[in-house]
Amino acid sequence: MSDPTTADDSAPDALPPLHAAGGFDTEPFAVLEEGHRRYGPVFRMRVDGVETVLVGTWAGLGELFAAERGRLEVLNTPLVHDLFGRALFDLTGNGHSEARRRLRPALSGRALPAYVPALLEVIAPVTDRWAQAGTGDLHHEMRELTGTMSARVLLGIAPWEADAAVFASAFETFVAATTAPPGPARFTAVRYWAGRSARQRLHALFARRARMSAGGVPEGSALPGLVSAFADAPRQAGPLADHLLALLIAARETTASLVTWCLIGLADDWEHARLAAAEARAVAAEPQLLVAREALPVLTSVLAETLRLHAPNLLSMRQAVCPVALGGHRIEPGTRVAYSPSAGHFDPDTFPEPDVFRPQRFLAGLASRSRLRAFGGGAHACLGRPLAELMALAVMACALDRGQPQLPAGPPTRISYRPAKAPIDPLPFALDQEPTS
Ligand code: HEM
Repeated sequence: MSDPTTADDSAPDALPPLHAAGGFDTEPFAVLEEGHRRYGPVFRMRVDGVETVLVGTWAGLGELFAAERGRLEVLNTPLVHDLFGRALFDLTGNGHSEARRRLRPALSGRALPAYVPALLEVIAPVTDRWAQAGTGDLHHEMRELTGTMSARVLLGIAPWEADAAVFASAFETFVAATTAPPGPARFTAVRYWAGRSARQRLHALFARRARMSAGGVPEGSALPGLVSAFADAPRQAGPLADHLLALLIAARETTASLVTWCLIGLADDWEHARLAAAEARAVAAEPQLLVAREALPVLTSVLAETLRLHAPNLLSMRQAVCPVALGGHRIEPGTRVAYSPSAGHFDPDTFPEPDVFRPQRFLAGLASRSRLRAFGGGAHACLGRPLAELMALAVMACALDRGQPQLPAGPPTRISYRPAKAPIDPLPFALDQEPTS
């Protein structure tokens, strides 16, 4: 392997061009698009008051992912270090690779069939309720449901167990702590200290669930596999408890966002929803179809188009730890670098009429899923992609089997982009039980 400290010495010194745009918080994609149109894959911009090198477009991300190992590290604040300890995204080098190697089997496509019945058990009461009475806020419900699905699969906690409430309350307190100030001011924030003690309660809960799972109960959980994968792990791979908390956090806002936008898309596209409902009925009869993607071309096209148009993550942050060449510019150590997973998703040459929700482009083979970057790439590519996609397909199938998605108050008008893309205002949602075919 080449030495990262010397490999880029031939790169020119000129800083990437500065994109002095405002409005990033409200219209981030318009700002990024304009920057890439003017300056190409790499430019500088202020993000949250800090000068940042932005990398985007299909070509730019390819270059970034090829160059990052040993040169760019995930930018984690002192707050993140305190709350997450030695979680996956805070590890580097061999420790990081070793941890990924041990986490991957329980989250891979091969592990998914075992999780299908457990997930459907959790989802069905929620979609039944949507069919009977609707909900006043789809995104709020999806955040809760994602928490319940993740607790079921990652920790083996069923919603009716006493541990479900223990988990939900400690996890909410922990999540609130992630919004404390990132630097020294965190020590003055009550929610920071509450989050630290919630972390201890969660670790104790994980240890107890791990002991229970040693007897193989309940089925349909990743926990036994994860416990045995970390039984002989070297110290540098970090403790499983830190990884579990990272998985739960990584799953939460992102998956809730994805499923919310999938259902919004279906509510807006009756023709596609009608076609997808036929697949949903097939899933009701044979649930394992959820892991046989070729059997669900319509549902998977909705998933792909939602990932394209509504990728949950706006930016992933890095810090250069060695000089690195990007777009012909030499990026100095200490520089903040960010990439937008979906910055290439609006390229009109690859996705004509990119601002329109059109699952048909994937269904008809006019666009390829391999051009989507919603799950990132390179050294830190998402480990939870198979599980996240399974959760999204399962919720869509359960919902469509009960009725046609409806937005009684219309689609969302105000959108926030961080921590994940979501409607700002409560979004009423219902399932119309008129036959869809
Ligand atoms: C729609 C849902 C999801 C989306 C869009 C998503 C997206 C991403 C992205 C873009 C990254 C790369 C971050 C970076 O480059 O710094 C990432 C990393 C990660 N994701 Fe996901 N994710 C999703 C769901 C999940 C789920 C369900 C899990 C776990 C069960 C998960 C676990 C992780 C982990 C552990 C990492 C860090 C990997 C590393 O640092 O090596 N994600 N995800």
